[in-house]
Amino acid sequence: MVHTRTQREIEKIAKSCQIVADTLIMLEKHIVSGAKVSELDRMAEEFIRSRGARPAFKGYMGYPATLCVSIDDAVVHGIPGENILQGGQIVGIDCGAELNGYYGDHARTFAVGKVDAEKEKLMAVTRESLNRAIEQAVPGNYVGDIGYAVQSYVESNGFSVVRELVGHGIGTELHEEPQIPNYGQEKQGHPLCPGMCIAIEPMINAGAKEVFTAQDGWTIMTRDGKASAHYEHTIAITKDAPQILSVGSDG
Ligand code: MF3
Ligand code: CO
Repeated sequence: MVHTRTQREIEKIAKSCQIVADTLIMLEKHIVSGAKVSELDRMAEEFIRSRGARPAFKGYMGYPATLCVSIDDAVVHGIPGENILQGGQIVGIDCGAELNGYYGDHARTFAVGKVDAEKEKLMAVTRESLNRAIEQAVPGNYVGDIGYAVQSYVESNGFSVVRELVGHGIGTELHEEPQIPNYGQEKQGHPLCPGMCIAIEPMINAGAKEVFTAQDGWTIMTRDGKASAHYEHTIAITKDAPQILSVGSDG
């Protein structure tokens, strides 16, 4: 079922979202050449727990870590390991937290040092596709309007939309209905109503849209080996403009 949340519930979701946004802000200065990925994960877990929350991904369907860290041709769900970041890579960092039974989910893609022009453009287009999607999250629109906004912008820039993974409702569970695909048609799908809380998360490939699951059973990779980017915000639909919940508490 699709939930609509009260103002009080939205405030609780917003708290969890702020913790996650602050976690990524904290991590940002550590995303440098030479950083060990497992160390980023350890710092994130410690930070989330210090705020009284719990890492939402750890233990979810057996997932072993606090963060998903997805480098270059890894699209999403990369498991943090002993690997070391290198200049020129782009790194998607996805994080979830749960506080008092309410969830927040948020992801950004970071450049390690200087990256090539294609990766720069991929990050900018993916970020802008998320902004355009959020603008569509208003009453009177439909889930398909969100997907259409992402797909039309991304494809007009020569990039492609991953189909196998989608955004989602969020609240008292990490993944709730409805699914929020990053492709679709205007005025199709579930109607959007005030009080709905959703995570919108475009996963955009520089090359072809096809992906596969790596040997570890989690990491989603591009088939053609080209780079992929991922940004995610948790938002609340209101009678006015959408409210982005996954923003830092200190600015
Ligand atoms: N943001 C991702 C999603 O909504 C995080 C899930 S990762 C998992 O699918 F490891 F927890 F599954
Ligand atoms: Co999500």
